[in-house]
Amino acid sequence: MADSLGWIGLGRMGEAMVKRLLKGNHAVTVWNRTRSKAEPLAEYGANIAAARNELAVCDLVFTMVSTTDDLKEVLFAAGGLVAGEAKPKVVVDSSSISQEGSAEIRQRLEALGVAYLCTPVSGNAKVAKAGKLLMVSSGPKALYDRAEPYLQAMARKVMWVGEGELARIWKIAHNTMFGVVIQNLCEITVLAEKAGIPRHVFLESINDSVLGSMYTRYKSPTLANLTFDEVTFTPKLLLKDMDLGMAAAKAHGVAMPAAAATRESVARMVGRGHDNVDFAVLLLETARDAGLELKSENVKLSDGLES
Ligand SMILES: NC(=O)c1ccc[n+]([C@@H]2O[C@H](COP(=O)([O-])OP(=O)(O)OC[C@H]3O[C@@H](n4cnc5c(N)ncnc54)[C@H](OP(=O)(O)O)[C@@H]3O)[C@@H](O)[C@H]2O)c1
Repeated sequence: MADSLGWIGLGRMGEAMVKRLLKGNHAVTVWNRTRSKAEPLAEYGANIAAARNELAVCDLVFTMVSTTDDLKEVLFAAGGLVAGEAKPKVVVDSSSISQEGSAEIRQRLEALGVAYLCTPVSGNAKVAKAGKLLMVSSGPKALYDRAEPYLQAMARKVMWVGEGELARIWKIAHNTMFGVVIQNLCEITVLAEKAGIPRHVFLESINDSVLGSMYTRYKSPTLANLTFDEVTFTPKLLLKDMDLGMAAAKAHGVAMPAAAATRESVARMVGRGHDNVDFAVLLLETARDAGLELKSENVKLSDGLES
């Protein structure tokens, strides 16, 4: 018999991911703190819960919130998913959170008889919408096998990397590179433009070189046209991830000079008040440091996500 499914957290990522599940003909009951973000999902076949503890009767509940503390809040605080009598069998979390926070959450959930799978993701909401996410899990292998068909409905590839919180360290390493790549891409794009190469021409050439990737391609239209109001991921969330990377580097005794410099650059961007904008606004700051005032190039550039 199919598992009954619940979903908590309908931000940019959660909304796109749960729509893939619904599209895969899975029945899902959803809850979001800000209810107005949940309501439009009724049109896609979702049941809308009025409170998160209504999902406690589900077999599997997926969570996609911002930070470790937010995940603890939705699970354990008064009215939380597992705070009452009824409990779901499994929690599958895809938020980007710390290894230590995740281990504490595992210990608390397992003590309550609730199994726990960490499944962070690679890809933004647009990637999720296109069904092109990578989902990487850790936790008991049998649990992964049980969740895999649902993960498959949301991703182009799913992987199990081992027991416990290993997927958290995978995600932290992944997002540290995510930060370092955008930092360097902004630096070299400003260098090329200041020396005379139009931004979109330079970006197109990088995308077609050995250094091009799905990431450099899907950020290119934003960098050429300065459409930072189309938010995929915020400077604040990137700073959270760079901080997770630096904390993990300290915990494991690994020097990460490129990540350390990037962390400071991202912190400066956040400190300058860039909040509800895309993190690629880092380009503007990098250009300002070079005495260059950027203008939108207003060009059509492929983001590589067309199917
Ligand atoms: N965006 C990306 O490209 C991307 C890619 C991979 C992974 N991630 C990670 O995925 C997670 C979600 O990212 P996002 O971009 O979807 O963020 P987002 O748009 O800011 O959404 C955050 C979600 O978490 C909920 N939330 C936060 N704190 C909460 C609390 N204390 N109690 C209940 N709900 C709470 C929010 O509810 P409200 O609607 O009520 O605020 C919203 O549903 C983050 O950990 C992020 O680092 C993001």
